[in-house]
Amino acid sequence: MVTLDKAFTAEGSPNIALIKYWGKRNERLILPHNSSLSITFDHKALRTVTSVMFSKKLKKDIFYLDGKKQDLNDRDIRERFSIVEKMRRMAKTPARVIVVSQNYFPTASGLASSASGIATLVYVINKALGLGLNAKEMSIIARQGSGSASRSLFGGVVVWNKGKRHDGKDSFAQQLFKEDYWPQLIDNIVVVSTSKKKVPSRAGMRTTVNTNPLFKQRASSAQSRLAEIKKAFKAKDISKVAECTIADSNEMHALMLSTIPSIRYLNSASYAVMDAIDELNAREGKAIAGYTFDAGPNANIITISKYQGKVTRALSRLKKGGMILYVKTSRLGEGPRILPESRSLIKKSMLGR
Ligand code: PMV
Repeated sequence: MVTLDKAFTAEGSPNIALIKYWGKRNERLILPHNSSLSITFDHKALRTVTSVMFSKKLKKDIFYLDGKKQDLNDRDIRERFSIVEKMRRMAKTPARVIVVSQNYFPTASGLASSASGIATLVYVINKALGLGLNAKEMSIIARQGSGSASRSLFGGVVVWNKGKRHDGKDSFAQQLFKEDYWPQLIDNIVVVSTSKKKVPSRAGMRTTVNTNPLFKQRASSAQSRLAEIKKAFKAKDISKVAECTIADSNEMHALMLSTIPSIRYLNSASYAVMDAIDELNAREGKAIAGYTFDAGPNANIITISKYQGKVTRALSRLKKGGMILYVKTSRLGEGPRILPESRSLIKKSMLGR
């Protein structure tokens, strides 16, 4: 049942893909060329809090992101907001909505803010509109807002199966391992820049698919690496997980680099982080940490507790040299959850009446 004039609030976390998705076979439905695998962050480390309220008293939809009112005529925002329209149609309600979303980390800097934003939005709207969708159904909707959002509906280690169907009904994420599966696993979120990315991932992927001859090989290479990393997770083999993670990030960024015109998200600080981790692994004689980068210069470095001290030391040298702004650590985290009413972010002044 649709609940009107009552605010609902949820929190969710971004995820970082260790096997990356870059390239769509269907742009409208957001269907990927290859399956991907990610880990979901702990809500304590990085999170998005989103409140929604549906009301017939609202004249139009209102959207606040990180304290700023958003222009719903902006193409990128409208495309992502289209999932709201979809869910409203499912609930058969004409009520307008106010959405207030706050990211507790830098937005659009390759820290997957769209993933947690959209996954949390779908989750909280499902509650407000009383749609009763399960996680798989919510993942299918979130996917159509932002591909990586399909994975943030789940905690732990998550696989987004690319699916085969043209209608996308078999393209959704599933949990591979729960959040308590590998308590020793640590992700270091290394922030080297908080500026917005130059090329939105949507446009960047399109150019890669359309212009890059190397793209043909990407799907099969990612699929076989996915099989390899799944085995490594099953065996809790950090060296194999790290090797696959590094290889897949480098493959995706090589693909971006060789796109015409070239897309480059990494900067000199990103390369310094890569050097530091490569050197650390070489000194140890095996991979004890793996780096990965999304569509931005910030790094994620995965390792396990017993090697964390070594990773911290390697990173603190770079921090002293001014290459790194800050580092946050996260364990495997849970999927989205509903927060009490008192946590609502909706203020009277935002309603515009
Ligand atoms: O979720 P999107 O459509 O913005 O794409 C994000 C793609 C990467 O973050 C670069 C990789 C991934 O699989 O998350």
